[in-house]
Amino acid sequence: MPARLLDRAFALEAVRVTERAAIAASDQIGRGDEHAADHAAVEAMRQAFNLLPIDGTVVIGEGERDEAPMLYVGEKVGTGGVAVDIALDPLEGTTLTSKALPNALAVMALAEPGTLLNAPDVYMDKVAIGSGYPEGTIDLDAEPAENVLAVAKAKNVHPREITCCILDRPRHEKHIAAVRAVGASVHLITDGDVAGVIATSDPATGIDLYIGRGGAPEGVLAAAALRCVGGQFQGRLFFRSDDEKARADKIGIVDFDRKYQLRDLARGDVIFSATGVTNGSMLKGVQRTAECIMTHSVVMRSSSGTVRWISARHPRRQGR
Ligand code: FBP
Repeated sequence: MPARLLDRAFALEAVRVTERAAIAASDQIGRGDEHAADHAAVEAMRQAFNLLPIDGTVVIGEGERDEAPMLYVGEKVGTGGVAVDIALDPLEGTTLTSKALPNALAVMALAEPGTLLNAPDVYMDKVAIGSGYPEGTIDLDAEPAENVLAVAKAKNVHPREITCCILDRPRHEKHIAAVRAVGASVHLITDGDVAGVIATSDPATGIDLYIGRGGAPEGVLAAAALRCVGGQFQGRLFFRSDDEKARADKIGIVDFDRKYQLRDLARGDVIFSATGVTNGSMLKGVQRTAECIMTHSVVMRSSSGTVRWISARHPRRQGR
């Protein structure tokens, strides 16, 4: 990839994209309409992309061309320029937004062409921790309790001092019980596992470990973020039907049982940007006053490891 893509100025362009999506989605906070919230974010993000001087290809997007009119996988965006692959989720947490619950984000990652896993829209089993642990501390094939004990040992603390983030789903009941049985605390989230995984990299959240099954595209986005801030992540695709396997096959997945490491999901240089839609553990949500709209974003670059927190004040225009 030409070095200029990862120019620090380009990171600011990335933030503009997630800011626009977050502002558009925020109009729908608490209005009970997931579809409208998602649609607003998608449309705004697409408009923002189409102002960027990139030759962008969406590799993680809103679905396949026939099911997603905008930002579908394979769609070209940008005005032309540096070739870049894009993973995006204009609204990560559609239900969170419609119900005004915490942690909804607009997220995207820019990467060197061919370096992000083209993940199908299926589930992925995931385990993640932040930076500072010996390589191999966690293992997707280990029991949840074993991972908790391994993290506690690496931190040199009692398992009671470990907090594990898990999506609150019936499929995770056994994980939750097993983690609690060894004394650890479980931080349940109702949605939004990109934020859940990233939380492991920020000591301020108190979350040490992420375990469980969520979306595969969200897994790639979370891996892109961890590439920038450090951490360990493993994932394996989980298929519910032959149809899902056929879709994976169509986009080049050959080994359905493969255990992906962080760099299998995002192996090149990456810029990751997220803007808060609703208030969350990592970012404040969009705030409106009579004069302006405030956004809060984080942008990270893997090549430098820089993490920038950007608060922006956008003067209100007619109709916004
Ligand atoms: P959406 O924003 O697309 O609704 O996804 C939210 C989310 O919670 C993801 O963060 C997570 O990976 C996935 O849904 C979990 O899927 P499910 O709701 O089917 O358990």
